[in-house]
Amino acid sequence: MSYKRTVISEEELSAQRDIMAEVAERNAALPVKPLALVDTYGCQQNEADSEKIRGMLIEMGYDMTQNEAEADVIVMNTCAVREHAEQRVYGNVGALTHTKKAKPSQKIAVCGCMAQQKTVADKLKESYRHVDMVFGPHALWRFPEFLKKVLFEGGRVFEITPSDGAIAEGLPSSRDGKIKAWLSVMYGCNNFCTYCIVPHVRGRERSRMPDDIINEARSLVKAGYKDITLLGQNVNSYGRDLRLGVDFSDILAEINAIPGEFRIRFMTSHPKDATEKLFRTMAECEKISKHIHLPFQSGSTRILKAMNRSYDRERYLSLVKLARSYMPDIVLTSDVIVGFPGETEEDFLETLSLVGEVRFDALFTFIYSKRPGTPAAAFPDPATRAEKQDRFDRLVALQNSVSEEKHAAYIGKAERVLIDGEDNGLLTSRTDGGRLVRLCGSSELIGQFREVRITGSNTWALTGELI
Ligand code: SAH
Ligand code: SF4
Ligand code: F3S
Repeated sequence: MSYKRTVISEEELSAQRDIMAEVAERNAALPVKPLALVDTYGCQQNEADSEKIRGMLIEMGYDMTQNEAEADVIVMNTCAVREHAEQRVYGNVGALTHTKKAKPSQKIAVCGCMAQQKTVADKLKESYRHVDMVFGPHALWRFPEFLKKVLFEGGRVFEITPSDGAIAEGLPSSRDGKIKAWLSVMYGCNNFCTYCIVPHVRGRERSRMPDDIINEARSLVKAGYKDITLLGQNVNSYGRDLRLGVDFSDILAEINAIPGEFRIRFMTSHPKDATEKLFRTMAECEKISKHIHLPFQSGSTRILKAMNRSYDRERYLSLVKLARSYMPDIVLTSDVIVGFPGETEEDFLETLSLVGEVRFDALFTFIYSKRPGTPAAAFPDPATRAEKQDRFDRLVALQNSVSEEKHAAYIGKAERVLIDGEDNGLLTSRTDGGRLVRLCGSSELIGQFREVRITGSNTWALTGELI
């Protein structure tokens, strides 16, 4: 595969900055400060993109609101990974006809992965005429230009030109909260799993320069962030396109060396590219969370092949063994798809047995959703919805019993947690492995690392006491 790395030039970015200043000037002349709402669907990558959209909106003179009725600008940052996600977006975008009727000056944008698909953009153009701007992830950095156009000239903007993708450094970002931060190390995906829409809407893998990542990590630590999650669709292939001889483990080790009290997490890891070096680095670096999210998707080698996952059941199991040889207590989480086209009861039993064998701490289970334009959409799919649902229920029941047992084994243990918020009168915190622990205590502890004794558990969470 040939790699072409496109970096948005400083001139192009500076033109967008000038536009932000123009919009800010217009907004500053309004009698009241205008409001904007950004609604996010989908994965952490989309959350990170939404923080950039908020950053640009703030720079353009907007305050943020959660109220659709009072917002002057609404941005829906969408996900295309499953049909259900898309239906939710159509429902919610449809409902905005009412807010726009009450406030005709309102400007509505639909962006993100779903918008990048031509069929979706066409549908929005024809049937959702209250939507003013539609653009895909490749055009995110041009949002100021689109907003200026609809504000100053009126009309509608559609920008979904397909692209392998580019990197835009230096966009403003307004992060949610002061404790946890997303840090993208790369964008796009080259793996083309046959069920998945992501490579079609996010373009090819492209890595940020090591210095850009390390400098951002440094400034996050300096700003007091305690939990930094490195993001990419497949972080384990970081750096291949750069040809600098720097891989993901090197980035992890460099961030680990930044002075300060903080934790490093990362997701997602593709099993085909997970290496012994990665596990060694995780084991050696004290700030790296001993947790890996390693999606297996299916326990059947035959189905893995049809999914184009490039590993088989045995390779997956041996990777888990290798990870545990370096970190015996590593927290393992995973994604699995039930009802992939052609999955038989036998294939499914292999998935069940893999789950029984590995004993994941938590599992994200999905029923296969047909994505138009992907190879699997054309595969014969004889299993009925009811059969798929039955398999799904059996898998969830097995995982729930495993999670419950694994959580119960924490009782009596001491864990170092990061206290990150409050919910229903209790503090919420996360263990090094990312397990949720609820405890009593003062809200002044939010943002601090503390030792707790685990006193109770259920399928989803733990309870504890400060030591
Ligand atoms: N890059 C990540 C996954 C991103 S999508 C990885 O490869 O691990 C998150 C999860 O959604 C996937 O792991 C998969 O389990 C699920 N998923 C993706 N496409 C799907 C589809 N068409 N139907 C059902 N689940 C899907
Ligand atoms: Fe989708 Fe596969 Fe890429 Fe993950 S690795 S984003 S599942 S194509
Ligand atoms: Fe969804 Fe796009 Fe993420 S399709 S899962 S928001 S990369």
